[in-house]
Amino acid sequence: MKLNQVRQSFLNYFKNKNHKILPSSGLVPKGDDSLLFTNAGMVQFKDTFLGLDNRDYSATTSQKCLRVGGKHNDLENVGFTTRHQTFFEMLGNFSFGEYFKEKAIEYAWEFLTEELKLPEDRLWVTVHKDDKESEEIWLKKIGVSSTRLAKLGDDDNFWSMGDTGPCGPCSEIFFDNGKNFDGKAPGEGDTGERYIEIWNLVFMEFNRDSNGKLSSLPVKCVDTGMGLERMCSVMQEVGSNFDIDIFKSLKNLMSKHFTEPNDQSLNVLADHLRAIFFLMAENIMPSNEGRGYVLRRLIRRAVRHGYKMGSRDPFLSQFLTHLENDFKEDFGVDFLKFEKIQKDLLTEEQLFFKTLKTGIEIFEASINDTDGKQLDGAIAFKLHDTYGFPVDLTMAMAKERGLKVDQKGFDNLMKKQREGSKSSSMFKVLDITIDPKINSEFVGYQEQTAKGSCVALFDEEGNSITSLSGEGFAIFSKTPFYAESGGQVADIGIFKSTNLNGEILNCKKVGDFHLHEVSIVEGSLELNADVELIIDAERREKIVSNHSATHLLHSALRKVLGESVEQRGSLVNEEKLRFDFSHSNKVTDDQIMEIEDIVNLKIEEAIDTKTEVLPYEDALKTGALAFFGDKYGEKVRVVYINGDFSVEFCGGTHVKNTSEIGGFAVTNETSVSSGVRRIEAISGDKYYKESQNALKTLELLSVKLNVPQEKIADRVDELLESLKNSKKNNPVVQAKELRDEQCSFSGSSGVIKIFENASLEILRKESDKLKSDKKIVFAICLSATEDKLIYIVSSNNSDEAPASEIIKAVNHAFDGSGGGRADFAQGGSSQKESVDEMVTKLKGLFKG
Ligand code: ALA
Repeated sequence: MKLNQVRQSFLNYFKNKNHKILPSSGLVPKGDDSLLFTNAGMVQFKDTFLGLDNRDYSATTSQKCLRVGGKHNDLENVGFTTRHQTFFEMLGNFSFGEYFKEKAIEYAWEFLTEELKLPEDRLWVTVHKDDKESEEIWLKKIGVSSTRLAKLGDDDNFWSMGDTGPCGPCSEIFFDNGKNFDGKAPGEGDTGERYIEIWNLVFMEFNRDSNGKLSSLPVKCVDTGMGLERMCSVMQEVGSNFDIDIFKSLKNLMSKHFTEPNDQSLNVLADHLRAIFFLMAENIMPSNEGRGYVLRRLIRRAVRHGYKMGSRDPFLSQFLTHLENDFKEDFGVDFLKFEKIQKDLLTEEQLFFKTLKTGIEIFEASINDTDGKQLDGAIAFKLHDTYGFPVDLTMAMAKERGLKVDQKGFDNLMKKQREGSKSSSMFKVLDITIDPKINSEFVGYQEQTAKGSCVALFDEEGNSITSLSGEGFAIFSKTPFYAESGGQVADIGIFKSTNLNGEILNCKKVGDFHLHEVSIVEGSLELNADVELIIDAERREKIVSNHSATHLLHSALRKVLGESVEQRGSLVNEEKLRFDFSHSNKVTDDQIMEIEDIVNLKIEEAIDTKTEVLPYEDALKTGALAFFGDKYGEKVRVVYINGDFSVEFCGGTHVKNTSEIGGFAVTNETSVSSGVRRIEAISGDKYYKESQNALKTLELLSVKLNVPQEKIADRVDELLESLKNSKKNNPVVQAKELRDEQCSFSGSSGVIKIFENASLEILRKESDKLKSDKKIVFAICLSATEDKLIYIVSSNNSDEAPASEIIKAVNHAFDGSGGGRADFAQGGSSQKESVDEMVTKLKGLFKG
């Protein structure tokens, strides 16, 4: 059976058992920040398990998964075992209350032994040691021999999605590859390459919170996972995932490219190439953080293996072509951006080949610093971490020079980094468990106020409470408050009832619930109490204007820059809108003007907007633009502005008519990362105010410059030009020396110098010059500007003529202030005097 036949037979089997075949969700979990990547088939059903998103059917999928980073991480195993991959497809069947252990086990056994016709005596099973029910089912109902059943603990037979979330005991099915492979039977030790886990049946019963506490799920569910490629290696009897049909042809084609091909490196390439492609198909770009960082590491690791096989030039982007031929049928839509992905990958590869060169130079340089025996672990780590050198390569290179690598030092640094990246890969999750049975309705599309009762109440830590008098969280049976999503910020506002006043500071979505962050101002909020909820309508109006303007901007961008423009993120608040999109070049001023014109024309045309809620499939047919960062349920809301000018999947709030937007202007255009630009813009009231201000400024300038407004720019150019010329002619405002007089202090001879427009620095330089004449013991330098007098005193002989004393006399003469050390002092005064007066006063004090 070929890979696509195994996939199809699984999906068909469960379809015949009344399961709905659903498409794979993306590698980036939608609307779930607790995971870096989709790591199992159940991820798209997480909310259903938690009871937050109900489904009245059982489902089956073939899910794209990536196990890099986080709880399930197979990256370091790839290339070292025959069964680990980073990217793979997971087949699964899911029940949301319809059936549990018995049916799940029966289905699995029937599929393996009757559909795939695997011999029963080559199948082994494991159950959780406390799960007597599953054990009974396997032994009594299915008739599995007790010699092929192992009872294991939490490490093997308790499955969790991540550190938090749905989890439960599981039962696994293993296939025995036969005596030719090494490995011990399940329960007896390392199963190695002989006993391969092919299917995991998880009996989802619990939700784990961030304190590790387990609570029961509303209904008992089933989540199963079978690695498609692994199953193929069983069906094709090849003993390695990397020798199944799809990989075999890919590896054959790739091996021809290298001068020294080796199987391990080809396996790594085959694996990483798919992971890289499917990540980039979801618009992830190589970067130094988060998901982009994982992508960058995969690319570098792959390039390193190609390098090891003799390649000195980029090759991955070419190999993608093989993927295209093989996988287009199965993953059609992912190939829409094929050329762009290929181009972006090439750029990253080229960048890395350059880095690689530097890495090799660093290696060479550090060789000279070793004691002749061992290369520092920190160097190996740096090469690994910064330059993407796998440590085995550093070792091989070291070996050629008769050196070892300090493995221990390297391992320690790796361990530290792993700990660090584990915590940074998990985003913070608001840890609140909501009873899925409560009823709550969002009425904010139509209403700005609503009467609702408080149906759930939590303290600041997320603990369920019945009365709140400080700050906490609440859910109401009805709410007009929009919860932050799709880039649009949450509404804020107030709530009240008799003797109760409170503020709503924020509103977040948890499943479909709107969780309000509340602060009580007066009285206390009781569970079940009725309150009136009122949003800040003025603020909402501004947000709404910016949100509709964002949709118009999106369409205008696609008109002006082309259909390849895709949304990469957005922020809509009461101040402005921000829109990130894919585009390689800077958007020129002319293009921005064109975009502004298009948007403003749509505003002028005063077009009614329209929204409708459609089943997902029907919504797709409208051709609506969807944003990969949002999660879409079974039903989606589609927002239309001007027929098909702008059609988007969007749960946000919008104007009823475009005329409400008032006007639109782009305020900023910048780059966010390679291939992604950002536009910031304003609309509505803000646009009006800023335009008014701009007009006033123009008027003012027109008066000041004495030219009509349309001539202002020319006039400014002229002035700048003349300023430039005058600077050329007079490099600095000239400091002018006005007078030079002899003087003395207690018998020591000094000099007084008076300047106009000299800075302190010039005075200091002058005094240094004077002091170099050894006959002069001290110098007093003064400078008069338009509104003040500054002076310094410096002395060659601190005992005879201390500057700190002399300056006191100067201060006195000009009613100024200042002081300093015996060799140098400075001061100033706001008193204006003529040069003659100054000389007279000073000469009176310091008679020559
Ligand atoms: N979610 C389970 C797994 O990934 C089936 O193993």
